[in-house]
Amino acid sequence: MEKLLIKGGNSLSGKIKCSGAKNAALPMIASTILCEDKITLKNLPYLQDITTMFELLGSMGSEILLDENMNFTISSSNLSDIEARYELVKTMRASILVLGPLLARYGKARIALPGGCAIGSRPVNYHLDALKLLGAKIKLKNGYIEASAKKLIGNSIRFDGVTVTGTENLMMAATLAEGRTTLLNVAKEPEIIDLAEMLNSMGAKISGAGSEEIIIDGVDRLHETVFSIPADRIEAGTYLVAAAVTNGNVTVEGINPKRLMKVISKLKDTGADVKHDQESISISMNRDHPRPVDITTAPFPEFPTDMQAQFSVINAISKGTSNIYETVFENRFMHILELNRMGCDISVKGNHAIIKGVKSIYGAQVMATDLRASASLILAGLCAKGETVVDRIYHIDRGYERIEEKLNYLGADITRLPS
Ligand code: UD1
Repeated sequence: MEKLLIKGGNSLSGKIKCSGAKNAALPMIASTILCEDKITLKNLPYLQDITTMFELLGSMGSEILLDENMNFTISSSNLSDIEARYELVKTMRASILVLGPLLARYGKARIALPGGCAIGSRPVNYHLDALKLLGAKIKLKNGYIEASAKKLIGNSIRFDGVTVTGTENLMMAATLAEGRTTLLNVAKEPEIIDLAEMLNSMGAKISGAGSEEIIIDGVDRLHETVFSIPADRIEAGTYLVAAAVTNGNVTVEGINPKRLMKVISKLKDTGADVKHDQESISISMNRDHPRPVDITTAPFPEFPTDMQAQFSVINAISKGTSNIYETVFENRFMHILELNRMGCDISVKGNHAIIKGVKSIYGAQVMATDLRASASLILAGLCAKGETVVDRIYHIDRGYERIEEKLNYLGADITRLPS
């Protein structure tokens, strides 16, 4: 297994460009199933999760072409299979995103039930309950979701809990349903707005994405489009934290700061000087130690759970004590044990981490357990004394495009060690 060797202590400086957002791209790729025509996606990030989604569509019969400008054209005009097999679903839970489109276009779908994962049980009951309200029949059999519907019929649906991929699944399914669907208690993440914009560019009639209520008027068919994936706000946030923990001075380009307002405000609270214009964010940290910041994760527009692990590192080297409450996922403190092996002083009680800032942390051999946990270990390695080796970095390659190249460009010293 490949590893990353990080020589800590370098201060990061310079400009980098954000890649396309993984969490925007995954539902967009799934949405191509809704359409007979070809869809072209630009600015797709080169990530393992994107490859897995293409593998899934390919296994069902989609044709995927890459042109000389690195744009992908996907044709799902005539799928031969409507099954998402366990081998793929177990490596990426977002595979569930093909359920809504398959049901809407083909009237049936067979999707392996995603199991537990490192950050909690992550069930899909909200997706299934909502699809039932559109008229789908759903059975669970031999570890698979078996869904069918002659025709989905619009309905008014209130989700039992806020779910990002659940909102996306229902939005996609309802585009081809008969009549009007109203979705309530929906996720308001920017990626929901991105997907609605893409679907509308294909002829869907969706309004309200990003607000409390999404209204979808079903149409008979969708048509071709060319759509560019917006920048990855979590990648941007991670590089801003990298600057904050190394006393750096970094500008992240290509990112709309409105997507990161809570993160920017917390970075300011740490004592960093953060400035932004419409499509870039600059940070400069000139303090011996950051100020500690309390954080409670919650759905957008609150502080994103996908930035929680990274902020654990800022707090770990801050001057003082801070609290992090994780309210979105039940088991998202896997990075804490590894951070403590590097000299951090963090205790966890349920969903509450109490972080006592320390003067210095030290390099160690550590193991990545999930995507954002891996990011936090790399950030810790950047500000630790000595060498850190991060093992199981396949987690990071799922969601960060060429992370070591980008960080090295800013002055880090990271080497990918072959397996
Ligand atoms: C998405 C993001 C992920 C992010 C998360 C929360 C993608 C591909 N992934 O994941 O990066 O961390 O949103 O912002 O966009 N839940 C249920 N039943 C359900 C669905 C969800 O109980 O049917 C629970 C989950 O276990 C979790 C919470 O609801 O505790 C939120 O999960 P959800 O928003 O669905 O996360 P994902 O869409 O999987």
